Amino acid sequence: MGYVGLCSAVGLALAGHDVIVVGRTQSKIESINKGKSPIFEEGLDEALAKLLAQGKFSATSDIAKAVEASDLTFICVGTPSAEDGSIDLTDIKKASEDVGKALTGKQGHHIIIVKSTVVPGTTEQCAIPIIEASSGKKAGKDFGVCMNPEFLREGKALEDFMKPDRVVIGEFDKESGDVLEGVYSSFNAPVVRVPLKTAEMIKYASNSFLATKISFMNEVANLCKKLGIDVYDVAKGMGHDKRIGHRFLNAGVGFGGSCFPKDVSALIHLAKKSGSKADLLETVMSVNEKQKRKIVDILKSKLDLKGKKIAILGLAFKDGTDDIRDAPSVEVLNELLKSGAHVSAYDPKAAENMRRVFPNVSYAKSAGEALTGADACLIMTEWPEFAKLTDKDFSAMKGKIVIEGRRLLDKSRAKFEGVCW
Ligand code: UGA
Repeated sequence: MGYVGLCSAVGLALAGHDVIVVGRTQSKIESINKGKSPIFEEGLDEALAKLLAQGKFSATSDIAKAVEASDLTFICVGTPSAEDGSIDLTDIKKASEDVGKALTGKQGHHIIIVKSTVVPGTTEQCAIPIIEASSGKKAGKDFGVCMNPEFLREGKALEDFMKPDRVVIGEFDKESGDVLEGVYSSFNAPVVRVPLKTAEMIKYASNSFLATKISFMNEVANLCKKLGIDVYDVAKGMGHDKRIGHRFLNAGVGFGGSCFPKDVSALIHLAKKSGSKADLLETVMSVNEKQKRKIVDILKSKLDLKGKKIAILGLAFKDGTDDIRDAPSVEVLNELLKSGAHVSAYDPKAAENMRRVFPNVSYAKSAGEALTGADACLIMTEWPEFAKLTDKDFSAMKGKIVIEGRRLLDKSRAKFEGVCW
């Protein structure tokens, strides 16, 4: 019932399938069954309300009933980072065991699909043996197995699910691959059918490549800043080359979120474990770590932070979400508080989540309130409402320092400094 599970479930139901979402948290189940998504994601509440009215969608904690009543089960549990950068498979193991147990009493054929992001080899070496042991059944004979990675951006997850660039199907047995391809038949997207561990690698390689694009662009941006070149013009000039493309060339405060940092780290860890070294990816991560701190370094070069009021606009790791996992703003808040600054932060969605991590920060109800009396302002997230801020809004500040983590404000009137310009 997390981002991936709920958005995939709603997407599959919108495509005409009957879907039952299974989870453990009773309050989330009740909320979903009332048409209120427990996570903030564009279009989810509206879609839920429509599907519930059609009777095509429900949430439950009863996994046995759900497996009995369905043909396929998608495992969409979280795979967080462990201390050493590897992935923590606790929830995958538990879900595999639970689905296996639920399969015990089922007569008909059933297909289990791992959708969670797992390192190559996990479905075959971890999920299948556990399902076989807990069900007493044999993969490929009594039940089918696929691996079907997701490519959903938070904030646009439903849209990405409904209009995928591609559907990747890793298959243990051909018959299951055929059925899963049928599930996606209305999506009008290229289907790539491969062995299980290839599908797992496609997901890691895709996220790691996108993260590499961002770190690459941040490195170019840092050089552009020194040379007085506008990196956003450079990105525009590069992006028209079809081999490069415009997307994910946006320089700024670095990447965050629950996916890129975790997935690049997991691939680095897997390379080490396999006796090779992911030099490039290690650099992608270290460039990103430096980039997240850069905005504070620039601020410190202009202002002694002790006792100063600093306005932070944007806390979420990107716009369109309330998610603060691995957000660059977390690092920035830590540094500011350590330096003795008072922080007044505003985010249209993520303030409550941040309050749990930093109860000592003061949370404003609007950008204007955060800016009032501030000695300096850091813009951390590209929320569209920040692009509408006027000179009058900034004139409520006591000081004049505004550092943009992204190029948000109109370039022609952008008299402020940016991390990368
Ligand atoms: C990412 C991928 O884009 C999805 O395809 C994938 O399915 C998902 O991870 C996942 O593995 O579940 P997400 O983390 O939600 O999605 O968000 P992105 O839009 O990819 O942004 C990630 C981070 O990169 C954000 O901090 C964003 O601000 C940053 N970013 C993105 C840049 O700094 N510059 C860019 O040009 C683009």
